[in-house]
Amino acid sequence: MRDVFLNTAGIEDFIMEDELLALQPAIDSAHNLLTEKRGPGSEYLGWLDLPTTAMTQVPEIMQAAERIKATSDALVVIGIGGSYLGSRAAIEALGHSFHNLKGNATKVLFAGHNLSSSYHADLLDVLQDMDFSVNIISKSGTTTEPAIAFRIIKDLLESKYGREEAKKRIYATTDAQRGALRTLTEQEGYTAFAIPGDIGGRYSVLTPVGLLPMAAVGIDIEALLKGAMQAREDFPDPNLSLNSCYQYAAIRNLLYRKGKAVELLVSYEPGLQYFCEWWKQLFGESEGKEGKGIFPAAAIFSTDLHSLGQYIQEGTKLLFETVIKVSKPRRELLIPHNAKDFDQLNYLADKGMDFVNDCAYKGTLQAHTQGTIPNLVIQLPDLSAQSLGYLLYFMEKACAISAYMLGVNPFNQPGVEAYKKNMYTLLKD
Ligand code: PA5
Repeated sequence: MRDVFLNTAGIEDFIMEDELLALQPAIDSAHNLLTEKRGPGSEYLGWLDLPTTAMTQVPEIMQAAERIKATSDALVVIGIGGSYLGSRAAIEALGHSFHNLKGNATKVLFAGHNLSSSYHADLLDVLQDMDFSVNIISKSGTTTEPAIAFRIIKDLLESKYGREEAKKRIYATTDAQRGALRTLTEQEGYTAFAIPGDIGGRYSVLTPVGLLPMAAVGIDIEALLKGAMQAREDFPDPNLSLNSCYQYAAIRNLLYRKGKAVELLVSYEPGLQYFCEWWKQLFGESEGKEGKGIFPAAAIFSTDLHSLGQYIQEGTKLLFETVIKVSKPRRELLIPHNAKDFDQLNYLADKGMDFVNDCAYKGTLQAHTQGTIPNLVIQLPDLSAQSLGYLLYFMEKACAISAYMLGVNPFNQPGVEAYKKNMYTLLKD
């Protein structure tokens, strides 16, 4: 996709070209580990070919999505981490900004991504008055947060519709063979979707984990997969001067070596907030281990320029920014003329609001690079399903290469167990 590209002008004052080219051997060895499937975690490389293989599942997913739409005002998506962030990212990025308040489209409500009793009790209030279905998503089938939420919401489903109808409204996405959720799914006869064994949670957005909730709210999942397929085809060559996905991995690695320990992913579109959350999990869980890794943070501008802007401009110089810049907004909006010009903004009358957003972007880029914050820009042509699919795959591949360059296993997350162990001990005391 020619229109998605990496603009590196904002790092030229921080990185010399020969420094970048010197990373070619490190890129080559990361590339070989990945493509020859001999790096740590190589049993979790199913995502590499997923854009193509997932295409065959589209009819089955669409059928389930149509059933959800026909029977339900809302779909409750129960999952945590990689089991909900990908679908939420796509739904927020591609849908109407107020999709749950708009028209008759199926609403989507998320549960089981926290342990807040207030959140879930409030959700039950809302669900009392709605026809709803549930998509419980858990690869292990034993994660505490979604398991508790499923118990609670299943009770409501059964009291509302009776046991048999409730079963028809439950869609389970879980491991093909193992786990408590798989066992329950077989016993109860829920509509089931399998998460391939060779795909970990944070790499599962293009499996039914992400695709079913997206399809249920009307996202064109075929276009999303086509975008991902295109990205899969665009980056086969490890040559750094030809591969922008690997350039991104190499540049962030170089900036990290120069003391930039925080990467701030920035967008000027609030719809990308959950894409940023998805990206945070992807890079945070993949790289942050063995005392190493860039801390992935995110901000929406210009919103956060009014909160974090001061720190970014003049605070400790520990971060670099990666901006996801969308060339064409999903919708245009003109600034109206005002006869009294009470706010003295008539010079902007009849200009698009996106023109102002674009000037904020250009002004910020200039101020931040001059304030010694390296800036990378990933230019997206638009916020379409195809462009988003492309970006998802671009990030997945860049992340795997980045982690291999760092010398860590991109596909495990041993550190996540520490809090769980303590919590289980406390729960059983
Ligand atoms: O990346 C991962 O594997 C994790 O963050 C999981 O996505 C998260 O813990 C949810 O796990 P599960 O789908 O098994 O409930």
